Amino acid sequence: MSEPRKILVTSALPYANGSIHLGHMLEYIQTDMWVRFQKHRGNQCIYVCADDAHGSAIMLRAEKEGITPEQLIANVQAEHSADFAEFLVDFDNFHSTHAEENRELSSQIYLKLRDAGHIAQRSITQYFDPEKKMFLADRFIKGTCPKCGTEDQYGDNCEKCGATYAPTDLKDPKSAISGATPVLKDSQHFFFKLPDFQNMLQTWTRSGTLQEAVANKIAEWLDAGLQQWDISRDAPYFGFEIPGEPGKYFYVWLDAPIGYMASFKNLCNRTPELDFDAFWGKDSTAELYHFIGKDIVNFHALFWPAMLEGAGFRKPTGINVHGYLTVNGQKMSKSRGTFIKARTYLDHLSPEYLRYYYAAKLSRGVDDLDLNLEDFVQKVNSDLVGKVVNIASRCAGFIQKGNGGLLVAGNAAPELTEAFLAAAPSIAEAYEARDFARAMREIMGLADRANAWIADKAPWSLNKQEGKQDEVQAICALGINLFRQLVIFLKPVLPLLAADAEAFLNVAPLTWNDHATLLSNHQLNEFKPLMTRIDPVKVQAMSDASKEDLTASATDTGDAAPAGNGELVKDPLSPEVEFDTFAAVDLRVALILKAEHVEGADKLLRLTLDIGDEQRNVFSGIKSAYPDPSKLNGRLTMMVANLKPRKMKFGISEGMVMAAGPGGEEIYLLSPDSGAKPGQRIK
Ligand code: 2FM
Ligand code: ZN
Repeated sequence: MSEPRKILVTSALPYANGSIHLGHMLEYIQTDMWVRFQKHRGNQCIYVCADDAHGSAIMLRAEKEGITPEQLIANVQAEHSADFAEFLVDFDNFHSTHAEENRELSSQIYLKLRDAGHIAQRSITQYFDPEKKMFLADRFIKGTCPKCGTEDQYGDNCEKCGATYAPTDLKDPKSAISGATPVLKDSQHFFFKLPDFQNMLQTWTRSGTLQEAVANKIAEWLDAGLQQWDISRDAPYFGFEIPGEPGKYFYVWLDAPIGYMASFKNLCNRTPELDFDAFWGKDSTAELYHFIGKDIVNFHALFWPAMLEGAGFRKPTGINVHGYLTVNGQKMSKSRGTFIKARTYLDHLSPEYLRYYYAAKLSRGVDDLDLNLEDFVQKVNSDLVGKVVNIASRCAGFIQKGNGGLLVAGNAAPELTEAFLAAAPSIAEAYEARDFARAMREIMGLADRANAWIADKAPWSLNKQEGKQDEVQAICALGINLFRQLVIFLKPVLPLLAADAEAFLNVAPLTWNDHATLLSNHQLNEFKPLMTRIDPVKVQAMSDASKEDLTASATDTGDAAPAGNGELVKDPLSPEVEFDTFAAVDLRVALILKAEHVEGADKLLRLTLDIGDEQRNVFSGIKSAYPDPSKLNGRLTMMVANLKPRKMKFGISEGMVMAAGPGGEEIYLLSPDSGAKPGQRIK
């Protein structure tokens, strides 16, 4: 038996100012499955994470909510921890970057880098908000695109024409925080001299630490030449003050990865047998893996190893990069109900369905993974319920009724148990390589063989025949044993199913090596259904609950949504739909009987509509275009009459009126030609 490996594993630290969604979960679930696999195999594997608690976004959000940043991050940490626990993501420690261990380690690393000559200082000129008295990051400056003239564009790129520019190129710049016109101001900044590490990075990034596609991308950056990295921010900023530099703070991305170390340190402080240096010291023989999304590769594969090298720590063994999550083939979108928060999912569905679906689709590449909700239902029901759990439910009753729950000794099909045994190394190899999809395919292949064998033996027919009872017991005993093998192989993915199966099998927690043995002459416990089919109605309910208020924005075509861990991307335009989908929409001519303001609503008007046989109450986000709503009284428009009613703060909205335009004052309610009558269907 080889020595157990010592492995430290991390997932990217989620920002402490937002909820966890299913895109985040793709990363935490895959990391957790890999960690559980290592533990299952008897390795020492420690999984740490933390909330990423610093930066101006968190400072501003706390201010907006009227609480301190400390209160905000405590609230968010409680929410994140609950979401992770319910998704069965089993961290050994979940800490925060706003913690003493992180302050100490960040200072220590910075001082080592500074003393070794890897920190430079120079003054830079930046926009400054004279009202808020703070320097403005690019995303906090808005203005008119210097290239195409589109208004209201962010400080570094234009969403309309795609131009990239410096914030100082924007015409008519405004602070997105206060609306004030920013002024240019100088300030001293601190830079990490990344080019000092060019040679080391060239070697390290080609030494098996990265997937090939990632190494190739990094090689492009290395070939283009590395730049010094600005690691300081001016007060006011929520973070750690740089030692010896009052009013200067570490940029959030400097202390975020150090948060991996700090979380581990915090665990070591409470766990006497864990030695920090054995994992982080220069001569550590432990393995260190970071699981991350493809949007933050530069921080982990360039800045981070360089910081570690410069400060005298070990570097990662591997950076495991994954792609983004799409839902139904597209970026997650609030308006389509596919921007699904972890909590919303958990309100409707079991975590193990998603864990299995992700496992079935995850391989070691950086491709995006699509959560197709129909396929999700179909795959989980067919594989887990129809194949795996089915074996146990087919066999358990006969053993319970026919033999008092005692599983007889013997092996009714040695060729099958041999095949299961022979498959184990390849399944383990797939898990180790993070090719979860291959592991799942191989496991389901075994489940198919087991089911085919049971179907062929048909114990349910034999049971009706005289003198076949022993044969029935032998078949079902093997069936239960094969089910147990499948559970052993699936345990890293489905820990709850495994725990329930262990209770039914009346065995101690199963480990990987248990697959080499069979239960024989063994008393089972009562069988209880281990997993139920996913009801598509619940998936629909989850999507409905995820839908943002559509009526508040009549022209909404989809929202920007974080794709991986926080990267903002725009939705593509609406997809093509089948004619049947279009035909299912009940479009009607509607007469506006009354249009009125809604107290407390900035954007909404309340419309009372006549659609022939009934009246409807609809809230519509068209107030800015129709400041005097009475002008709409008596006008005809068009509405979607079979939109599911939405409960809003102000009442129930029973449909949606149709309008066009970019928004603001430019929203144009659509009208039919004269002659159309309220209630007529639009064809
Ligand atoms: O992109 C993000 O969501 C960051 N909060 C990830 C930080 S990972 C690590 F370096 F701390
Ligand atoms: Zn432009």
